[in-house]
Amino acid sequence: MVKRNAIILAAGKGTRMRSKLHKVLHQVCGKSMVDHVLTQLEQAKIDTIVTVVGFGADTVKEALGHRTRYALQKQQLGTGHAVMQTEDLIGKEDGETVIVSGDTPLFTAETFEKLFAYHEQRHAAVTILTSVAPDPTGYGRIVRNDVGIVERIVEQKDATVQEQAIKEINTGVYCFDNKKLFAALKKIKNDNAQGEYYLTDVIGILKQEGENVTAFKMDNFEESMGVNDRIALAKANKIMRDRINEHWMREGASMIDPATTYIDAGVKIGKDTVIEGNVVIQGNSVIGNDCYITSGSRIVNSKIGDGVTITSSTLEGAQMHNGSNIGPNSHLRPEAEIGENVHIGNFCEVKKAYIGEGTKIGHLTYVGNATLGKNINIGCGVVFVNYDGTNKHHTNVGDHVFIGSNSNLIAPLNIADDSFIAAGSTITDSTEQYDMAIARARQTNKKDYAKKLPW
Ligand code: UD1
Ligand code: CA
Repeated sequence: MVKRNAIILAAGKGTRMRSKLHKVLHQVCGKSMVDHVLTQLEQAKIDTIVTVVGFGADTVKEALGHRTRYALQKQQLGTGHAVMQTEDLIGKEDGETVIVSGDTPLFTAETFEKLFAYHEQRHAAVTILTSVAPDPTGYGRIVRNDVGIVERIVEQKDATVQEQAIKEINTGVYCFDNKKLFAALKKIKNDNAQGEYYLTDVIGILKQEGENVTAFKMDNFEESMGVNDRIALAKANKIMRDRINEHWMREGASMIDPATTYIDAGVKIGKDTVIEGNVVIQGNSVIGNDCYITSGSRIVNSKIGDGVTITSSTLEGAQMHNGSNIGPNSHLRPEAEIGENVHIGNFCEVKKAYIGEGTKIGHLTYVGNATLGKNINIGCGVVFVNYDGTNKHHTNVGDHVFIGSNSNLIAPLNIADDSFIAAGSTITDSTEQYDMAIARARQTNKKDYAKKLPW
């Protein structure tokens, strides 16, 4: 097998994004653009991947970690100059090198594989991956001669009016014979409209040297889209979103309105789960089979079992086990773990708490820093008072406990199995099994007093 290298260009500033965030770190469906590129290259059986970093180098390295090697481009003098920075790492290798920009997040491993195959069949010095753009503005154009053979690439800013009319564009992806690439790079100059060392000039140089220069035209322009500004970023998100939604629908999930269903690249969704429109599922969330998620729900980094219903609620870093349900308008915060067949109704918040199987928390309740057992009934408006202004304290509630409405449980507390808290109580002491705790002022009725009141 020929050795395969890949270079990801990720050193540019991305001025057109007008952002403090480095361009290639902008996200498409919850994952940075450069991470999408790297992920697809990883799937394309490549031996060595080198990422060229420069502007925001530390943040890019932090985002990609040890999945790639790095070359530093101290000054951003152009794409050709960027590739030169990898010479120490791979310049002397035999084999092939594919180059991809960090701002083209939609390419698939399959396309890279096809490019390698096309390149190898033709024994080319370089194969340019091209596509046909409905509006080619901003892209480098593929200049072919009278018989259709590729001559060179001309950048938008250097193109004549006739050249600007060419719709076949350079996708910024190429497969090179590695040694020929580095030899030709030594000959590029920066005498162009942008004063940069263009990688694209290598094509014309190889052609002039009589090398075999070919182009592999892909039939899907969308996949080759480069993201230079936020308008393209929104388009790339839309394309990726459609791709993700179609994938999960093919896998057996139903979507009522996929156009308004926002699922991140890292999410997994089970079969026969139904997702209404206007739902956001982010991060590494996993949704089981047979779930129903209504509009207005936002689920972030959460794990949902089978047969779970989520109605217009927000979940972050939470877990819901099989058969449980929540909502409308409730909030699970980090480390909330909801047991099997638990019911959480409306306007409830749960944080850092385990709720045991079959427990019901119907309305307007806050549970924080607590461990709740099975088959508990929690009335309306119960507050687990977990914070004393300095520290958080824990409450344990045993199985089959009844907590009456509008009770405050002031932690730390241990409410034993089968105990009963009367409504309206402010509980400061733990209970024992079968206790009934009542902690509220007694009512007095003043005879005929209402007659004296001014109403
Ligand atoms: C580039 C191509 C253009 C092609 C388009 C496809 C060149 C000269 N032009 O244009 O033909 O149609 O991509 O999307 O190559 N970068 C560096 N160091 C630098 C400059 C850029 O690492 O000094 C990186 C950027 O971070 C980016 C990539 O190279 O990821 C491409 O640079 P960009 O400025 O976006 O090039 P385009 O103008 O889009
Ligand atoms: Ca670009």
